[in-house]
Amino acid sequence: MNLNKNYDNLEQSYLFSTVAKKVNEFTSKNPDKKIIRLGIGDVTLPLCKKVIEAMHKAVDEMGMQSTFRGYGPEQGYDFLREAVQKYYTTHNVNLDLDEIFISDGAKSDLGNILDLFGNDNTVLVPDPVYPVYVDTNIMAGRKVIFADANGDNCFLPLPDKNVKADLIYICSPNNPTGAAYNREQLNSWIEYAKENNAIILFDTAYECFIDDSSIPHSIYEIEGAKDCAIEFCSLSKMAGFTGTRCGYTIVPKALGKLNKMWLRRQTTKFNGVPYIVQRGAEAVFTEEGQKEIKENLNYYKENAKIISETLKRCNIWHVGGKYSPYIWLKCPNNMKSWEFFDYLLEHAQVVGTPGAGFGKNGEGYFRLTSFGSKENTLEAMERIEKLFK
Ligand code: MLT
Repeated sequence: MNLNKNYDNLEQSYLFSTVAKKVNEFTSKNPDKKIIRLGIGDVTLPLCKKVIEAMHKAVDEMGMQSTFRGYGPEQGYDFLREAVQKYYTTHNVNLDLDEIFISDGAKSDLGNILDLFGNDNTVLVPDPVYPVYVDTNIMAGRKVIFADANGDNCFLPLPDKNVKADLIYICSPNNPTGAAYNREQLNSWIEYAKENNAIILFDTAYECFIDDSSIPHSIYEIEGAKDCAIEFCSLSKMAGFTGTRCGYTIVPKALGKLNKMWLRRQTTKFNGVPYIVQRGAEAVFTEEGQKEIKENLNYYKENAKIISETLKRCNIWHVGGKYSPYIWLKCPNNMKSWEFFDYLLEHAQVVGTPGAGFGKNGEGYFRLTSFGSKENTLEAMERIEKLFK
């Protein structure tokens, strides 16, 4: 029996587990202090009414012989795939039903998709970035190289012709910086991918925050993307499904074998998302569902404004919060990321995410999320203002 030695090359624990551990240690020593968590991007508003109604109805169906369902199609029920298909047409993207795969979320699929690619591929990942892209490739022993995202390129690195990569991760709007690529910039990545016979893994989990027509919601809005990109999206941030679990992955048939390979992989290793959850997800894409989730998204956007205005008053440099729920700030007084994390926890009992956890270029930066309640966001900002104004 041999263990997978690649695991020895990982950080000791996943970023958000390390954050949670540190917070738990603090609370056990300071049980009377009220902690405000603006760290992991977890939603706080409940599922919208339309979703709950649909799920209740589906629960009733499961309790009756005539409407009970057992195993569903691994790639998702047609009713949900059709709803996703229709949603894409609102972004002028036409997809065939068998290009849409329903999943339990983008995180799982971003890791699972790697089953389709050889371990000898070179993987290009922006730095800083969502740690899952790096960790899942380290687990498989792939070579990971980085594209520097920094203040100079507004956290939006563009392709370098001298770099050869086979798999390219793009997260737009970006986690953690909130930066989002425009059409021209995405087009340059598509051209690069085609020249290098590479595949882009496009994570668009935060597209629902975009309200600017110059920013694409889907990479397929750009001509030629279906020949070189797989897209991942999730209802987690869009509709508060972080605990409910549902997402979708698009594998265009123009990618040749990859579409069939993904179907083969999913039918072998996955039994699909529960029927009740898929009915709830379907409701998100109805007219009323969209209206209700927009109200929730606006609530979070308002929180982002509150955070940004406070940071401005404190003269703390920051970006983001516009196309994403994340505010990316420079740690005050030249503190390092984990130093600032400890300082904020100790002096304000506010939890954020250290930028260094997203890559070397994240050192000296810090991420706050707007997914908290308005009351908690206001209180956290009051505490921060007291420390830095
Ligand atoms: C984050 O905080 O970066 C996200 O919530 C993590 C995730 O979506 O898995």
